[in-house]
Amino acid sequence: MSADSEKRLAAARAVTLVEDGMTLGLGTGSTASYAIRFLGMKVSEGMRLRGVPTSEATAALARECGIPLVSLKEAGRIDLTIDGADEVDTQMRMIKGGGGALLREKIVAAASDAVIIIVDASKVVQKLGSFPLPVEVVPFGAAYVQSMIESLGARPTLRGGEANPFITDDGHYILDCAFRTIERPEELSAMLNATPGVVDTGLFIGVTDALIVGRGDQTKVFKRSKQANA
Ligand code: A5P
Repeated sequence: MSADSEKRLAAARAVTLVEDGMTLGLGTGSTASYAIRFLGMKVSEGMRLRGVPTSEATAALARECGIPLVSLKEAGRIDLTIDGADEVDTQMRMIKGGGGALLREKIVAAASDAVIIIVDASKVVQKLGSFPLPVEVVPFGAAYVQSMIESLGARPTLRGGEANPFITDDGHYILDCAFRTIERPEELSAMLNATPGVVDTGLFIGVTDALIVGRGDQTKVFKRSKQANA
């Protein structure tokens, strides 16, 4: 089974948990896109749903799929968010932001009663850090933050390069920081978030209620602090 089929399976499983009338946080990335397409099918079958998108790209896809959208302000509270991840460890700590939407993803997750993360099996790791940690920064402070992160022993690179930097939906830059291994994600997250110029980081800790992993032709559901076979 390919990673794509595993993503699709995980997405399909997550969508079975969606109920009529829910306001949903719609994640960003290829795995979340599968979920959005499945949700679009639910809407076309008559399910009443509305979505809060975590990026402009997701908003466009959701519109294409016929999912009514509302702003976070209009939604107030979100019942359930379904999103992907770049890496997730055995304690459900994650690296996100490979798609550049980490800030809105983190806000939408925080405003949600429940968060389900869907991944293919390759995303599950013993320790975070092989995937370069995305750190969203204010353009004015990017060079300062870059040197601060270098002093921690990581190799930060400006996404897109100096000549054509990637700009997030909120007008910021992203530094992709190769740490190789992140021994203490909580400490690193606190340190980075306390650095002037940092908007937020791709470390998502304590936000996931359930993780759905597509592995081969099966899905496995892990609930926070306990594991259950699907
Ligand atoms: C988007 O900013 C990310 O947080 C994505 O959720 C993450 O990069 C996973 O993307 P894929 O599902 O495309 O691997």
